[in-house]
Amino acid sequence: MKLNIITSSLILSNIANAAVLPQAVFEIEDYLISSIDSLPLVNSTELQSLITTEALYSRAEKLYEIASYSNKSFGHPTRVIGSKGHWGTIGYIKNELKSLNNYYNVTVQPFKAFMSEVFEFNATINNEIPKSLIEMDMTPPTPNKKPVYGELKLIPNFGCNDDDYLNISNNNILLIKRGECSFGLKAQLTSKFGAKAAIIYNNEPGEIRGTLGVPPDGVSVAPCLGINLEEGLKYESLLLNGEILNTMIQIDSFVGPITTVNVIAETNHGNDENIVMLGAHSDSVSAGPGINDDGSGTISLLEVAKQLTNYRVNNKVRFAFWAAEEEGLLGSNYYAESLTLNENEKIRLFMDYDMMASPNYEYEVYDANNIDNPKGSEELKNLYIDYYKSHGYNYTLIPFDGRSDYVGFIEHGIPGGGIAAGAEKNNAENGKVLDKCYHQLCDDLTNIAWDAFLVNTQLIAHSVATYASDLTDFPVREIENSKLNSMSFAYRGDKLII
Ligand SMILES: *[C@@H]1O[C@H](CO)[C@@H](O)[C@H](O)[C@H]1NC(C)=O
Ligand SMILES: *[C@@H]1O[C@H](CO)[C@@H](O)[C@H](O)[C@H]1NC(C)=O
Ligand SMILES: *[C@@H]1O[C@H](CO)[C@@H](O)[C@H](O)[C@H]1NC(C)=O
Ligand SMILES: *[C@@H]1O[C@H](CO)[C@@H](O)[C@H](O)[C@H]1NC(C)=O
Ligand SMILES: *[C@@H]1O[C@H](CO)[C@@H](O)[C@H](O)[C@H]1NC(C)=O
Ligand SMILES: *[C@@H]1O[C@H](CO)[C@@H](O)[C@H](O)[C@H]1NC(C)=O
Ligand SMILES: [Zn+2]
Repeated sequence: MKLNIITSSLILSNIANAAVLPQAVFEIEDYLISSIDSLPLVNSTELQSLITTEALYSRAEKLYEIASYSNKSFGHPTRVIGSKGHWGTIGYIKNELKSLNNYYNVTVQPFKAFMSEVFEFNATINNEIPKSLIEMDMTPPTPNKKPVYGELKLIPNFGCNDDDYLNISNNNILLIKRGECSFGLKAQLTSKFGAKAAIIYNNEPGEIRGTLGVPPDGVSVAPCLGINLEEGLKYESLLLNGEILNTMIQIDSFVGPITTVNVIAETNHGNDENIVMLGAHSDSVSAGPGINDDGSGTISLLEVAKQLTNYRVNNKVRFAFWAAEEEGLLGSNYYAESLTLNENEKIRLFMDYDMMASPNYEYEVYDANNIDNPKGSEELKNLYIDYYKSHGYNYTLIPFDGRSDYVGFIEHGIPGGGIAAGAEKNNAENGKVLDKCYHQLCDDLTNIAWDAFLVNTQLIAHSVATYASDLTDFPVREIENSKLNSMSFAYRGDKLII
């Protein structure tokens, strides 16, 4: 059967080259469809049984080898966008999918992303280095990467309006409270009113791990660092008492545009009015090879895509491999934003698979619902819950707050959800961090829980088999709400934006 498909796809490409009569193409296409027709309809139990740890392991080894293509430029393995390791990953994904006997239509979608890296930063206020000092992702460097000096100036309110920036001199470094608007806007206003740099302090306990986001075209952004609430309040009260706080900030960083690509693979058969979509991100952070984040999701999707070719589907299945997730979900947002209304309406749901195999894992399900999120999100959540329950695994509901690639879909009215195995938080059962190597060099082959990887990949197979065979019980798309569902999430990717 497979041989027939190979033959006909070979013939098809020869025909395309030779530009023969349309009649001949017709016959061959009929033949191709009839060989798909002779495949059994996808069955969840069977598809799951084809997923093996051995196959996941050999793909993980391959990804690590690909990440090492970056050794020469980065000094260590990474699959960050723009690196040899990332382009190698893209090539691997495309080749794997294209080798599947013309079962998939494999395309790439180029888009402009921003690469950013903070190499070094420092600040002193009144000659002391704030203990909680942290970089803001996407911050530009200080001029020539040299220190800038100035008097610290307290900005009233949240620093979201022009009116908050009266009385600023170009000798000032600003102290701004977190909240109300994005960190990016605060950094833009800092620059617009001529101050040298800004320090944003948290408005709640905990670390302020934020990003300034993609810089808008032609708008200047000031260098920016963060400190915690306690230290912010300390400097605030000193300033309110009229003290002069001499401040220094120095940042060495790089922010620059780059072109990268999403890879999309869709079954060539199945109902194209009912598209079942799922995605993982192909990139890692620059610090390491990203074998769990999100090598695991990438591998799961590739393996499910491969095994699916043993079956026929009723509904089209579309696999997405997003780029620049780590820069703020740029690939998936670009994709969702670029859909025409007609294309949007055909996507029945989107399933996000990011970090499937964290070493000290828990089985996490995004806590979506049908009131705040497009209708269907809750049914998807329940599919995952039912699966974990029926297999006797504990599961944890985690906030649906914008940390992965489902955001663009939800914001455009497409039901969404997903599962994960955990990042920097602690496992409730043993109190230890879920992924000790999250966004670090050690996210390598030793950073994978193979048992969770297998369970989660089988669950992905189950989700695909379930919806690819039947969507009749799944809520129909509520088209009129498509563009009205914009929500504001605190996160975009792993960083806070507001
Ligand atoms: C799927 O396959 C399993 C095992 O082969 C079988 O028991 C089950 O009946 C099948 N399900 C459907 C819906 O055909
Ligand atoms: C790449 O660098 C890592 C160390 O960070 C090393 O373990 C690995 O062997 C290197 N691989 C190649 C192919 O150079
Ligand atoms: C393959 O997918 C691309 C992108 O969606 C589409 O433009 C093209 O028509 C598809 N090709 C086939 C043969 O379906
Ligand atoms: C930060 O700046 C202070 C003051 O200039 C300096 O003493 C210190 O060594 C710097 N720290 C780093 C890590 O560069
Ligand atoms: C600007 O300075 C004036 C005069 O000192 C003061 O009344 C006003 O509150 C200041 N405004 C801001 C936003 O700091
Ligand atoms: C589920 O959680 C309970 C309570 O924490 C624990 O006692 C039990 O061992 C867990 N079960 C599994 C399968 O992990
Ligand atoms: Zn991720």
